[in-house]
Amino acid sequence: MIVDVDTGIDDALALLYLLASPEAEIAAVLCTAGNVPVAQVTTNTLAWLEVCGRSDIEVAVGSAVPLVAPLMTTEDTHGPRGVGYAELPDASHGPSARTAAEAWVELTRERPGELTGLVTGPLTNLALALRLDPGVLGRLRRLVVMGGCFNHPGNTTPTSEWNVAVDPEAAKVVFDAFAGLDPRRRPLLCPLDTTESIEMRPVHVARIAELAGSVPPEELSEDDPCGRRSRASVPVVRHLSDALRFYMEFHRDQNLGFLAHVHDPFAAAVALGTVPYVTRPATVDVELDGRITRGTTVADWSGIWGRDPDADIVVGTEPEFFFDHFVDRVAFYVRD
Ligand code: BDR
Ligand code: CA
Repeated sequence: MIVDVDTGIDDALALLYLLASPEAEIAAVLCTAGNVPVAQVTTNTLAWLEVCGRSDIEVAVGSAVPLVAPLMTTEDTHGPRGVGYAELPDASHGPSARTAAEAWVELTRERPGELTGLVTGPLTNLALALRLDPGVLGRLRRLVVMGGCFNHPGNTTPTSEWNVAVDPEAAKVVFDAFAGLDPRRRPLLCPLDTTESIEMRPVHVARIAELAGSVPPEELSEDDPCGRRSRASVPVVRHLSDALRFYMEFHRDQNLGFLAHVHDPFAAAVALGTVPYVTRPATVDVELDGRITRGTTVADWSGIWGRDPDADIVVGTEPEFFFDHFVDRVAFYVRD
């Protein structure tokens, strides 16, 4: 897989999940500006991989800015450093010499038809790669993107989702490149319509804490929902719960309840095919010019535009199946 991230709390959880999954072999992790600036994304990604014991994986740095728009970041959502309350150690290694766009191009040339691309941040790097080489998408086994919202409210403007809203021009470049791909390899989009049904709650984190042999659920509280104080000996689980505590507090402050929408790990599970999900084919586009609708993703479900469907949109899943599966995979880090 090639994984393109803006780490980010749920990006970090997606990486943690993939690294614990035998189905996944990660060829490179590419960093894009989004939740936090790209330098911080890179710092977080390098540190997170090291905490997960995988500092051998290449990390490549992408553009510091979107194609056209000024960069916006969201420290409110992910914390000043992008990983909530997690205090990650400094990584002992740095990023690779090539850019993220070059990595997309070169890796797909080396392994044509083999690699799945997963993007859980703005699509800037992939758009830049398509400018270098329009053949990148055609050489992927499949592309999976966490992004957009179709029959569902936005989380950035009333009608736009964060990853698309940060760099709408890049999303447009990538979506336009879907046309003409082999229909059997139509890109999969995981929009808010589905990812906002994935509500991680303290009880789910408590199950991870229990795995780590620490806190009985009845001892968990809103102040310490993930039992973080008693798990200092399992760094991955401690960082995970410290990150999630911040993320849940953010959702609570948005009046969404004490929970966290874990968009990116779900998209990772879709990429691996390890969770049940339902798709609908559609032709997709992005609004660039609207006075109040810039960054809005639009799906033509019924061929009104007279174009063939060019994406499969994930419209449903089974959240509790996902959480059982996620907890099961995270157990990888706490086994003897
Ligand atoms: C997306 O926005 C980011 O804040 C998350 O990491 C996720 O990729 C959800 O809209
Ligand atoms: Ca993300």
